[in-house]
Amino acid sequence: MNTSEISDPFKKARIESGCGHMEDQNDPATMLLRLKDVRKSAHNWKTFQSGAAPGRIVIPSEVHIRETRQIPFEVDPPEHKAYRNLVEAWFKRPLDEAYQQKLTTIVETIIDEVLTKDNIEVVEDLSLKLQSRALTLLLNTPFEESEKWISWGTHVFRSEGSSLDGDKANILYDYIDAEIDKAIAKPGCDLYSVLLASEIDGKKLSKEEVKGVMILTFAGGRDTVINALTNSVAYFADNPKSIQYIKENPEYTGKAVEELIRYFSPLTQMGRVATEDTVVCEHAVKADTRISLCWASANRDETVFENPNEVVLDRKLNPHVAFGFGTHNCLGATHARQIMNIFLTTIANKVASIDIIEAKENIEDLGDFKRKVGYDSLTVKFHNH
Ligand code: HEM
Repeated sequence: MNTSEISDPFKKARIESGCGHMEDQNDPATMLLRLKDVRKSAHNWKTFQSGAAPGRIVIPSEVHIRETRQIPFEVDPPEHKAYRNLVEAWFKRPLDEAYQQKLTTIVETIIDEVLTKDNIEVVEDLSLKLQSRALTLLLNTPFEESEKWISWGTHVFRSEGSSLDGDKANILYDYIDAEIDKAIAKPGCDLYSVLLASEIDGKKLSKEEVKGVMILTFAGGRDTVINALTNSVAYFADNPKSIQYIKENPEYTGKAVEELIRYFSPLTQMGRVATEDTVVCEHAVKADTRISLCWASANRDETVFENPNEVVLDRKLNPHVAFGFGTHNCLGATHARQIMNIFLTTIANKVASIDIIEAKENIEDLGDFKRKVGYDSLTVKFHNH
């Protein structure tokens, strides 16, 4: 088995029943494993709501460590639309030429640096750095802020051995409170200031609402992007011909990004709370209990994807749901896609091969299912042309 392989622990359950089951802090979840069911239920926000108690749709649940509602993620239509309208254009800025140029400089600087080193630990020295520096573009904050975010390490939301840690999360929450106060005292052109100045139905957003958007922007785009980048490095190490393929066929870079994101599925699942007694894939689901939309399983659905466990860089039809589906589809997807696109292009232009020296996998424990999402650490050596 290749180091970079990400297996599909859901296959048997997906084929046999379409459902899985997961215990979580006395609030179990029925997991939907087939693409069709995941899409249908993601669409059906009236029966499967996101706007339950803050933290409840996250698995493992964050109800005991967070009171702030994440916006627009934990809000259902019609209110969801009003919040989303406020930020949609801002999160499309990664399509601008100037944004892409700055992002290219960030990526090239990091790759040039790792090429000079004997070996590097990818999670800390490459992925966290790149994710944090790129986030300064999305928030339109000074580049130097990224130094602070990098210093928090990858585990700002979790300690080794436990997936939830309230004290660690407070580092981020206190930081965001302080940044909001700074933006109130001296408004600028950053996301905090833009949110503080925006209105819904003639009413300014409250500090708590601005905090809800900012927490989500930090949290949603951190581990997901770090895992996408680290898994890509492992994949290219195991498959040096794919570096060559992208170099020779740059027009396929976009397709390759989609395929890698499908295969990695950096966000395994997200929950919803049933608002009424209902049935999913022949399983009874009681009102006020949780289901999960298992994006990672849906993305390996053998009835939809040919050779689902293979990376096919030029895959023709790729209706993956790694960025979600319907109402809450990922707001950061434009930014994440640009990072991946520029990252692949830069690797293709500058790197000949990558050797893996040591790999420690990060395995999510989902009860009956154990799933690799990325690495706790990955030590490699980059070689240039
Ligand atoms: C929503 C995945 C990067 C911000 C989502 C959802 C998924 C997802 C599956 C849907 C959740 C649901 O329906 O409950 C990913 C993946 C990423 C990524 C795989 C990277 C490869 C980012 C980044 C940001 C971000 C970089 C921002 C910095 C958000 C927000 C939402 C969201 C704000 C909620 C949108 C809404 O409720 O309307 N993401 N995400 N994500 N993501 Fe991402």
